[in-house]
Amino acid sequence: MGFSMTLSTIIKMQDIYLSFKGKDFDVKILKGINLEIHAGDSIAVLGASGSGKSSMMAIMTGLESAVKGKVTAMGQEITAMNEDQLAVFRRENIGIILQSFHLIPTMNALDNVIIPLELAGIKNAAEIAAEALKEVGLSHRITHYPAELSGGEQQRVAVARAIAAKPKVLFADEPTGNLDSKTGKAIIELIFSLQKKLNTTLVLITHDPALADKCSRKFFMNDGHLKEEL
Ligand SMILES: Nc1ncnc2c1ncn2[C@@H]1O[C@H](COP(=O)(O)OP(=O)(O)OP(=O)(O)O)[C@@H](O)[C@H]1O
Ligand SMILES: [Mg+2]
Repeated sequence: MGFSMTLSTIIKMQDIYLSFKGKDFDVKILKGINLEIHAGDSIAVLGASGSGKSSMMAIMTGLESAVKGKVTAMGQEITAMNEDQLAVFRRENIGIILQSFHLIPTMNALDNVIIPLELAGIKNAAEIAAEALKEVGLSHRITHYPAELSGGEQQRVAVARAIAAKPKVLFADEPTGNLDSKTGKAIIELIFSLQKKLNTTLVLITHDPALADKCSRKFFMNDGHLKEEL
């Protein structure tokens, strides 16, 4: 009898094209992207500035619509969803950490983490948010507003917010780009330890080859074309 290992597909992009037409330009950004990600994978996406990495992530998370192609995530076709459906899909399934932290300036650290949990209808949102902030080592700063936090601390709030609801997939776009190397290293260790602990699938955009080496699969974006390094 044969032994077979089943890899379950968690995200699939098929023939994705993205372009922007302005008054004076018509730029082709993504030129036929195909990518299949399995549950538990950690994916690194490398490539030159402007090559289309963030654009691809925006399409995988439904923040941007493709001109052509299909994206399926967790068995749902996200390229067929409207804005409301996408918002629900994101809340229930994924966490996103961006280079700039996107915290709400008028809310303290704890409320920044609570809000998306409450929107997702999760019970004990306050408790779960406090626990996530503890995970990132910020228990002593929960009542601080973003302006009262250092860059590294703000990024840790953003990490706490992204992981609090235990997403199936965690997307991180250069999460350490704005941080000094020591703080950046701590954030990375945090992301990978949480990934292991929660068995989350990770999609990480980075310019750092050492960081990419920590991932299970490595991809290069080159002028709108994506290639896996095998
Ligand atoms: N709304 C837009 N209109 C026109 N061009 C755009 C728009 N958004 C992005 N672009 C262009 O698409 C290209 C890819 O951008 P993207 O942000 O995906 O690059 P990236 O690989 O993430 O780069 P970086 O490493 O600098 O973050 C860039 O050349 C950018 O100028
Ligand atoms: Mg980018």
